[in-house]
Amino acid sequence: MPRKIAAGNWKMNGTATDLTELDALGTQLPASSAPTVVICPPAPLLFRASEVAGPHGIRIGAQNCHAQSTGAHTGDISAAMIADTGADFAILGHSERREAYGETNRDVRSKTKAAWDAGLTAIVCIGETGEDRDANNTLDIIGGQLAGSLPNDVTETNTVVAYEPIWAIGTGKVPNLDQIVEVHDFIRARLIRRFGQQIGAALPLLYGGSVKPDNAATIFQAANVDGALVGGASLKANDFAPIIHALAAS
Ligand code: PGA
Repeated sequence: MPRKIAAGNWKMNGTATDLTELDALGTQLPASSAPTVVICPPAPLLFRASEVAGPHGIRIGAQNCHAQSTGAHTGDISAAMIADTGADFAILGHSERREAYGETNRDVRSKTKAAWDAGLTAIVCIGETGEDRDANNTLDIIGGQLAGSLPNDVTETNTVVAYEPIWAIGTGKVPNLDQIVEVHDFIRARLIRRFGQQIGAALPLLYGGSVKPDNAATIFQAANVDGALVGGASLKANDFAPIIHALAAS
């Protein structure tokens, strides 16, 4: 069984005072055998977030990293620097970065290797646009992104895949359960075909895109949904905690 993961992507939201939300979340977590909870705050908060989150058993992740380990890359942050803050994860290939910075599957693959080299677990994001879905191209697009974004040496501990339909991110629109099941089953089959039964079946597979307290339990009914990558609803402990509880109960 893949491990359950609830990951929060704060995007470009939050300053130091918002780290009190981590303490608040810590007091609302389910007891034993809880899902792994990861918060991915903006980079300037990584150090302090790691200190605040540690005692609660909450893990910390970044939202990006550079593919190179050091060098003349003004404004960029390497995976080793992220690991140095105490973080364990890095979200890579989020659709907002693919769109705003032209990140390609090849870029995401390079960044994933860099994250592994620094000991981070990569949360690799894939997802189709609304036009892709309307044109019935969803599985082709997902298959291509999966093949191109994942390096060969994937294991069930160094990589998490997050399926995030772009049209569902920040919109309040969510695919219906059949659509989520179809894509997640497809991704699982592709992972098993490429990486073998042991790794492919155990690698955590997250759904992302407008996950909220009131729809989480339905989404987690899908057999191949092992958790969620949550944007807006991860900013406040009172919103994120019920999602984590729904995952624990699934
Ligand atoms: P959302 O964002 O939950 O606000 O839709 C999800 C994401 O982009 O990871």
